[in-house]
Parts: sequence; structure tokens; C-alpha cells
Amino acid sequence: MTKTKHFTWSSVAGIAAMTYMTSASLLFTPTSAVAKDIELPGDGTLWRPSALPGYQLTLQNCSACHSAHYAEYQPPNSSPAYWQATVVKMQKAFKAPVSDSDIALITEYLTQTYGENRK
Ligand code: HEC
Repeated sequence: MTKTKHFTWSSVAGIAAMTYMTSASLLFTPTSAVAKDIELPGDGTLWRPSALPGYQLTLQNCSACHSAHYAEYQPPNSSPAYWQATVVKMQKAFKAPVSDSDIALITEYLTQTYGENRK
């Protein structure tokens, strides 16, 4: 009588190969679910705090798309007219959610904080 050997090395290799492929597929899981980011100055530069009412309006109206980085790099002697034109440009060209009635207060804050009237 010959004893039959049910255990073979090839079956061990098969299980090992299946295990390897399973872990490999986990490693290569598609990452398409990851949100696509739009690159704007993402440096987190904060708007300079102020007691002026325009500060809160700026936080509400100006923080969605970019940090305060852009404001920091405007010429320090920028006039109220310059800042108002910038706010209107944000509103009209880029659809910033600025109410017409808030433009004056935001302009005052920007001029006194970043422009010619800065302390
Ligand atoms: C809907 C998105 C959006 C909002 C909200 C927004 N901005 Fe901008 N802002 C932009 C983009 C885009 C640019 C870059 C424009 C360019 O490169 O010409 C920009 C540029 C700027 C600049 C650089 C100077 C210039 O004229 O390009 C300043 C200063 C600025 N924003 C201030 C503000 C202020 C103040 C507010 C709030 C009243 C604001 N932004 C709200 C999109 C936005």
C-alpha cells in the first residue's frame, strides 16, 4: 500500500500567492475619492485683528478663496480708492459675497490696517 500525500508545496505557494495579491490590491486602492484642491495662497496668513466693524465683515466675505496674504503684499501707501476698487473687483470679477452696503466698512478696515492710514 502506498500512502497518498495530500500536502503539496504547490498548494502552499498558491495560498501565499493569493495572500500576496490581496495585500497588493489593498496597497493600490484607487485614491480618486480624495478631494481635488484648488491652489490659491494656502499659507493661512490671518487677517490682522481690529476693533473696526470691517474686520468681521472681511473675515466673513474675504476668507473663502484666499488668506490675507494678498492684502499683506499690496503697497503700504494704498489709498481708500485703491482698496475700494479691490473690494469691488473681488465682488464683481470673482463673485465674492460682498453686499454693496458693506463695501465702505471693508474699505475702511483695509485702508487703516494695510493701506495709507495704517497705524
Ligand atoms: C470668490 C473668491 C474670492 C473672494 C471671496 C475674495 N477674493 Fe480676493 N482674490 C481672488 C482671486 C482669484 C485673486 C487673484 C487675482 C489675480 O491674480 O489677478 C484675488 C486677489 C486679491 C488681492 C490681490 C490684488 C488684486 O487686485 O488681485 C487682494 C488685495 C484681495 N484679493 C483682497 C480681497 C478682499 C479684501 C476680499 C473681500 C472683500 C476678497 N479678496 C475676497 C478671489 C477672491
